[in-house]
Amino acid sequence: MAVSQVYLRYAMGIKMNKKWWHNTIGYQIYPKSFQDSNGDGIGDIKGIIQHLDYFKELGINVIWICPVYKSPMVDHGYDISDYEQIDPSFGSNEDLDELILEADKRGIKILMDLVVNHTSDQHEWFQKAMEDLHSKYADYYIIKEGSKGEPPNNWRSIFGGSAWERIGNTNKYYLHIFTKEQPDLNWENKELRELLYDMVNRWLEKGLGGFRIDAISHIKKDFNYKNLPADGKDGLASGWDHFSNVEGIEIFLKELKEKTFNVYECFTIGEVNDVKPEELKRYLGEDGYFSSIFDFCHTNHRVRDKKWVNNPIEMVNELRSLLFSKQEYANGYGLLCNIIENHDLPRAIDRFIPEKYINYYSKTMLGAINFFLKGIPFIYQGQEIGMRDYPKKKIEEFKDPTTYNNYYEHVSRGDLEENVMGKINIETREHSRTPMQWTDNKNAGFSEGIPWFEVNPNFKEINVRKQYNDSKSLLAFYKKMIAVRKRKDLEETFINGETVPKYMESSGVIAYERVRDNQRILVINNCNNASITLELQEDIKDVLLNNYDQIMLDQSDIKIMPFQVVVMEMQ
Ligand code: GLC
Ligand code: CA
Repeated sequence: MAVSQVYLRYAMGIKMNKKWWHNTIGYQIYPKSFQDSNGDGIGDIKGIIQHLDYFKELGINVIWICPVYKSPMVDHGYDISDYEQIDPSFGSNEDLDELILEADKRGIKILMDLVVNHTSDQHEWFQKAMEDLHSKYADYYIIKEGSKGEPPNNWRSIFGGSAWERIGNTNKYYLHIFTKEQPDLNWENKELRELLYDMVNRWLEKGLGGFRIDAISHIKKDFNYKNLPADGKDGLASGWDHFSNVEGIEIFLKELKEKTFNVYECFTIGEVNDVKPEELKRYLGEDGYFSSIFDFCHTNHRVRDKKWVNNPIEMVNELRSLLFSKQEYANGYGLLCNIIENHDLPRAIDRFIPEKYINYYSKTMLGAINFFLKGIPFIYQGQEIGMRDYPKKKIEEFKDPTTYNNYYEHVSRGDLEENVMGKINIETREHSRTPMQWTDNKNAGFSEGIPWFEVNPNFKEINVRKQYNDSKSLLAFYKKMIAVRKRKDLEETFINGETVPKYMESSGVIAYERVRDNQRILVINNCNNASITLELQEDIKDVLLNNYDQIMLDQSDIKIMPFQVVVMEMQ
């Protein structure tokens, strides 16, 4: 692995050694829907290899691939039945070796998804545990006695229903905080932990850049297991606080880091929600459990929610405060990974922009809002061409257990069918899982066969080929954004410069300066559908990026057009 030369920097008295991944522009692939190379309708590793030049050209240098291990696919790969094998639907272990090699040739590192909170119920360990509840394998999972014919307690699984599943006719239950096909592993078992570390190291030996680490904040459980006051008609209660960032988790996370990640200087991103701001420093950076964690501060915001429908600018102002406070807490400790989309969320354009305002300017500006913040930008497949939600007419057209659970939850509350579908069409994470739109050919160029999930019919309009040579396209704009972030003379400021909020008194404006030594880069995003005038405090040295053709200056005033974004180096 190419480890860059080490130098020291003191930010707020804390050193940040330069790492190879500091100048990352990341790209997330949902492999099932990226590119099918053999016509079976399912995206695969060979399909990813076909597009490596696309990433090189965009300027991507790290790719995170959602799970491709052997899996019955109940949770589309997040239920792993064999950690050592690639699922045949995605190809072979050799295909993965080839991907790592071919990516390396183009200066791109591959991150795999590490799913170690749970396995599939088809995993050999779980099968053996079920065969013999006294075997050592039973202690690899969390199995408890029920009480009076009821589960050990009334925790609700994150995906709905009880978090416990009864084992045959026994009075014993196993814990699953996701679907019942995803039994939780018992991290208290040292032998199991060692097996997991060995597995991680075997993968790292292959030359991976690192891992995105799934659901990792749940590996420690509060073993109190008391019933909680019911918070729904189902008599169940959210067990969230009892299986998220529970005290003692730090012992496991430190051990995981020391025994695996540290040995390889790899890049790790934790999927960690709900970290208290003051605890952020334990989770990321030089001394943190991971190199970085995703900033999820905006993920519950949707402009089509009742709360925001008539107040989109209030939503913007709220988002602004959240983004800036996250920046402040992370400052000096490490880099957050900044996203607006992933495979668990509807598409960003539909989440953040009121329908009537969706246009080239608002779409480009949305992409730029957090792209220049301190941290590592990650682009989710299709985001760069503005892929959109694909609403369905019937629930049967969806594929994911979470969509069905949400559907039945709404129905059980007495909502009418058409209202329920309306809500599902706003909320479902499956919008981001429709096949990638490459061309306007059959199935958007995704597959020669029948795609496992229907292609969004808007592919004739929205596809890579159409935008590729169009300098006024969203794709071209993403390319420009990446090029700006990678400019050698600006790179240090984008990596290490502080984020200083600007123009906070202007509603609907997300503006900040990135400052380091004598360099200042000012980013202004106008989320209003109206122009605004702001006073510049310094002269402009260079306009680095602009989604309009010109900049309107009147002495020290700058007029920012509706949904304009400008990035400028200041004197
Ligand atoms: C993570 C994944 C999600 C998956 C869940 C259970 O949140 O991002 O897709 O369903 O973990 O593994
Ligand atoms: Ca295939």
